[in-house]
Amino acid sequence: MSTDGLCFRAGDDIPHEDIVAILGDALGGQGAAHHEAVQRLVATSTAFVLVDETGTVAAAAGCPSKEGWTIRAIAVVQGQRRRGLGTELVERLSLLVDGPWLLAETDSDSVGFYRGCGFDVTNLGEVYPGVERFACQRRI
Ligand SMILES: CC(C)(COP(=O)(O)OP(=O)(O)OC[C@H]1O[C@@H](n2cnc3c(N)ncnc32)[C@H](O)[C@@H]1OP(=O)(O)O)[C@@H](O)C(=O)NCCC(=O)NCCS
Repeated sequence: MSTDGLCFRAGDDIPHEDIVAILGDALGGQGAAHHEAVQRLVATSTAFVLVDETGTVAAAAGCPSKEGWTIRAIAVVQGQRRRGLGTELVERLSLLVDGPWLLAETDSDSVGFYRGCGFDVTNLGEVYPGVERFACQRRI
């Protein structure tokens, strides 16, 4: 993927609602409760984004943790997925945050993305009825 014209920025430089709009797809649910949950997540996290000439195209929100830095949500705008932007955001994050580990917990829909980014994946089993969860970690 060409990274020409792609900027990695702190989320503080971007309108909060832009980040909320992108990260909405990373959290299950819909309606007002879903919107509030995403707003709360963004307000209580450190966010980073990728911006191109069209605007903000990807966002990640997370926080420092005992083992390193935990990605709480990551998303790429619809229509721009499977072009390497999610991977690029993870790579830029890895250069910036403290290790030793970059961590995430996800479901079966997104675990392929984390595997594709080189994370080691542990199946946590059916954490909620019918919902398998996966712990993902990659050394920084
Ligand atoms: C998950 C997400 C962030 C991935 O971003 P992306 O820019 O589309 O991912 P990339 O193009 O960097 O993908 C890199 C590799 O990861 C894997 N991958 C990506 N998305 C995948 C998916 N949905 N299922 C399986 N593997 C996937 C592939 O191996 C892919 O390489 P390929 O396209 O050459 O096959 C994006 O699909 C998204 O925004 N999804 C909605 C929000 C979400 O579910 N977030 C994750 C939970 S927090």
